Amino acid sequence: MTTTAANTAAWQAHAKQRLADTAPQARTPPARMQWTQHPNTGPGAELLGDLAGQLVVELGCGPAHNLAHLVHHHQAVGIGVDAARAQIHRAKVLYGHLDGLTLLTADATEFLTTTKRTFDVVYCAFGALGLSPPDPILAGIRQRLHAGGRLGFSVPHIRSDNPPGPIADTLALPDGQHRPITRWIPSPAGWTDLLTRHGFTVDDQQFLPPTTRPGCLIMTAHPT
Ligand SMILES: C[S@@+](CC[C@H](N)C(=O)[O-])C[C@H]1O[C@@H](n2cnc3c(N)ncnc32)[C@H](O)[C@@H]1O
Repeated sequence: MTTTAANTAAWQAHAKQRLADTAPQARTPPARMQWTQHPNTGPGAELLGDLAGQLVVELGCGPAHNLAHLVHHHQAVGIGVDAARAQIHRAKVLYGHLDGLTLLTADATEFLTTTKRTFDVVYCAFGALGLSPPDPILAGIRQRLHAGGRLGFSVPHIRSDNPPGPIADTLALPDGQHRPITRWIPSPAGWTDLLTRHGFTVDDQQFLPPTTRPGCLIMTAHPT
């Protein structure tokens, strides 16, 4: 199994357990966007600018709490993409009733290289960027983001000298088992290099230091 297929399998297992445990029902989107793994800390949707009427894509949307927030509270038109079928199923149960929200099972790069549409905003909150090789995803985003568009992403930030290549990690499932996963989480300077190489200018970089959980790096950029 490839590293990205193993990641998808881990998230598929995670979502299936969540579906079995909690029997989710349609719900009102959360009042706040979460960029970090620390609830209610750090910036919110304001990092992405005015979203009213904007076509916004989340790559690795999981259960789509964040995208549902942007559609419901900021009047964005949202497309959520996730490689794990059970994540999209869970997202549809929770938020499929919202007008202006489309949810698709697809790998981020496959979606970006097959869609004919262009987007105002693309973002990942602990999503495809950080959990997949970043080069093809950034190339795809650059192709599909129109001039004046915005990119935002957050990733766990374990060490300031993280290598640019893959690093092994584990995902804790709701039942307490751990599945091996692979992350691509270069240093802040490494991300800046990647973004520059793919034709982006960095607008903002925020580092939330580790507490009981790993730190978090949040970056925004626009096509140069
Ligand atoms: C930690 S969850 C993030 C969920 C969501 N962004 C949130 O904030 O609640 C990571 C998700 O990214 C998805 N993912 C990772 N790599 C991906 C890729 N290359 N294409 C699409 N989805 C991907 C996984 O399947 C998983 O559902």
